[in-house]
Amino acid sequence: MQHQSLRIGLFGFGVVGEGLYKVLQQTPSLKAELTKVCIKHPEKKRNAPTQLFTTDKNNLLWDEAINVIVEVTDDADAAFEIVATALRNGKAVVSANKKMLAEHLPDLLQIQLETGSSLLYESAACASIPVIRNLEEYYDNDLLHAIKAIVNGSTNFILTKMFEEQLSFSEALLLAQQSGFAESNPVLDVEGYDAVNKWALLLNHAYGIVEHPNKILFTGIQSIHTADAQVAQEKKYEIKLVAQAKKLKEGNVAAFVLPQFTKSDEPLSFVKNEYNGVVIESGFADKQFFYGKGAGSFPTASAVLSDIAALRYQYKYEYKKLYHHQPHTLTHDFYLKVYLSFTDWHFIPKDDFEWIEEWHAGEERKYLVGVIHAQHLYNQNWWKANETSLILMPEPIIENVEIVKLKKRSLELAGVNL
Ligand code: HSE
Repeated sequence: MQHQSLRIGLFGFGVVGEGLYKVLQQTPSLKAELTKVCIKHPEKKRNAPTQLFTTDKNNLLWDEAINVIVEVTDDADAAFEIVATALRNGKAVVSANKKMLAEHLPDLLQIQLETGSSLLYESAACASIPVIRNLEEYYDNDLLHAIKAIVNGSTNFILTKMFEEQLSFSEALLLAQQSGFAESNPVLDVEGYDAVNKWALLLNHAYGIVEHPNKILFTGIQSIHTADAQVAQEKKYEIKLVAQAKKLKEGNVAAFVLPQFTKSDEPLSFVKNEYNGVVIESGFADKQFFYGKGAGSFPTASAVLSDIAALRYQYKYEYKKLYHHQPHTLTHDFYLKVYLSFTDWHFIPKDDFEWIEEWHAGEERKYLVGVIHAQHLYNQNWWKANETSLILMPEPIIENVEIVKLKKRSLELAGVNL
């Protein structure tokens, strides 16, 4: 970008767009001028001068005076067209649209290569936590052993309100919607789609992985039962929707987004309400914990603002892990230690487990703890059906089950009671 001053065309004036409008008014030192805002619903009352608004996207995309397009809509397909056109027209783009970015990542990478235009999206994952730029700039490929994160504010908010303040699921969801945390279609939050979209983006900046979100094993919090919360309480665990990635041998990365029991002294257990948290394990630094608001008008706008500010010095993602290192490969070839609660043993394919080490039959619900291959969970849906609830145990990844079995066997032979 050759322009010194930033002239912004904004798409979307919902929770984030309006937040950005207010934040820009409070940061005159940025010298960024909001020139036009494109909206879908002109009939809605807006808290900004009417002359700012248009419903014609071409008024922004083809205006040569506009050098930055900020896209904060919730329509992934329309947003992709907007972003692609803007980049091809030589404009820099800032987007908060995680669904659009995750689903169109290969095309967006290609367009950036072809045009040299900058596309920034710090707000698309963990809102106010600067996680993308950190993964991109700070960690060398070989040092990043593992990442474990809470990346969706709404589900974390709902779990906190349900299990700590005894709100019902629907009361907690309504509150998340009223607070502007939830997506316009809250199923995207509740069933894990939003989290897995964010995880697909972060896997790229962490490990150079370019995979569609539907290639990642995931679910949300829709099946978590009050009985699970009781088990968690007995075991002194919290229940969180956790996105996790771990480097295995030979450049493979195990990655998934699933509910998980977290131990009460783990950093992620301290993450409540709409906050997000990211724990990074790297070679020499050991563990680092990033914490901040992961949803809401101003926290999201703050990250958009930071991207806009970065454009003043022509900042671009270099996609270092993808282009300058040997990219890693997403794998489902590992085992997971899971807790399952269910109503009837008939729904559970017991033979698919490597082993089951704990089971309990209550009157209404039963549960087991066992080890199962991740590929099996990715291929099958029984664990999402018939009111079955799957929650990972703490430290759930087992890379090589044969070694664990051999160890168990040798301890048994040595007479050690397991
Ligand atoms: N619905 C999203 C969340 C908004 O709850 O995390 C922020 O991306």
